Amino acid sequence: MNPLNHVAIIMDGNGRWGLKFKNSRNAGHREGLNTVEKIIKSSIKQKIKHLTLYAFSTENWKRPKKEIKYLFNLLENFLINKIEDLHRKNIKLKVIGVKNFSPKLNNLLKKSERKTEKNNILQINLALNYGSKNELINAFKSLQKKRISINEKNLSKHLLTKNIPDPDILIRTGNTKRLSNFLLWQLAYTEIFFEKKLWPDFNEKDYIKIIKKFKNIKRNFGKI
Ligand code: IPE
Ligand code: IPE
Ligand code: MG
Repeated sequence: MNPLNHVAIIMDGNGRWGLKFKNSRNAGHREGLNTVEKIIKSSIKQKIKHLTLYAFSTENWKRPKKEIKYLFNLLENFLINKIEDLHRKNIKLKVIGVKNFSPKLNNLLKKSERKTEKNNILQINLALNYGSKNELINAFKSLQKKRISINEKNLSKHLLTKNIPDPDILIRTGNTKRLSNFLLWQLAYTEIFFEKKLWPDFNEKDYIKIIKKFKNIKRNFGKI
């Protein structure tokens, strides 16, 4: 049985869900937050140590201003209302991505990270304004500037995910099979599961089914 340490998720399909059931993409984003809470709870039960959630890509800035505003409001309110609860549950929050949001949200994110930094039951890595190509370019630049030699170990240490083990499982919901600029380096040996359901419809049962499948896969890492 494969040990499971880190699950990464591309939470896709909120917009389509919202349009289909509530005639509003934003209603889908709101609904998607319930799935986030369910999956956090289940991850703790499964003794998973890292849960990485793709919440906003560097490319998502190309969306209509109204949708972007709604998404960040949702996040702000989530942090304001839930950070105490996450802290009590011994969850650590870490943002991976460039924090260049409103001063209010930047502060809130920093405060939430600081408050929970010593927690150790589950680390939630929130990929926010995250883009893998940009992350890699910055890592190479930083190595070059510090005159550090370029090798796998040094590069990994200069990514936004330094100190985070590579994901064992990647799940993408929403019936789309692409990576959308997510963790291109870190996913080199990850087991990938594409899920037809839209993110708001994804539930604990679906999650556990994937985990069970993963546990029985023969992971080769190049060997036989
Ligand atoms: C993913 O859902 C969530 C974010 C990108 C914030 P989408 O909003 O991409 O949903 P679809 O793919 O349009 O249905
Ligand atoms: C990827 O989903 C980003 C997040 C889930 C945050 P998108 O819906 O933005 O991806 P594309 O643009 O369809 O590839
Ligand atoms: Mg999408």
